[in-house]
Amino acid sequence: MPNLSSARAIAVMLVGIVAAFWLSLPAPAAGKKDAATHVRDRVAAMVAAQAALDILGDMSGGRRMFDRRLAREAQRDLSRQIRAIPSLFRSGGVTPRSRARPAIWQEWDNFTRLSRRAGRAVRALDTRRLNRMRQGLTAVVQACLQCHALYRRPP
Ligand code: HEC
Repeated sequence: MPNLSSARAIAVMLVGIVAAFWLSLPAPAAGKKDAATHVRDRVAAMVAAQAALDILGDMSGGRRMFDRRLAREAQRDLSRQIRAIPSLFRSGGVTPRSRARPAIWQEWDNFTRLSRRAGRAVRALDTRRLNRMRQGLTAVVQACLQCHALYRRPP
């Protein structure tokens, strides 16, 4: 049986070893996401953009009552999702489930130009008047499709 002081010495040593072990681990990867997480995050943003666009599309198609406040919220949400596109795609990564084309990273300037164009179309939406909103939505949908045509593999 070790006496009390040697037991304490062992305990102190163990604490030291455990601390050294934790310190040697890489810091919890902030910003170091794996490819699957990148893909998940950007697809989640796109799906949120689609949901916001659907609200506006339903209002303009008469499938949902026009409501300025809700339209404005959907516009804000859509704008937020579109603004995030460059940062969500920058770190790259394609997985078998991803439909992103590698050309995105070869033609990065064009890709970000198309995302800015989509952002402008969203900001230009006049959500106070149904007629004006309906007209503006065409440009938004075209901007989505233009980027998809070049940079998203068809299903
Ligand atoms: C600058 C390019 C770009 C713009 C602008 C853009 N998208 Fe995308 N979108 C992509 C790419 C690339 C993918 C595939 C991502 C992946 O699978 O990794 C994608 C995926 C999606 C998806 C996921 C499901 C699927 O069909 O692959 C939806 C939904 C979507 N986009 C909706 C929209 C909507 C709605 C807009 C316009 C409001 C929009 N996108 C604007 C590039 C864009």
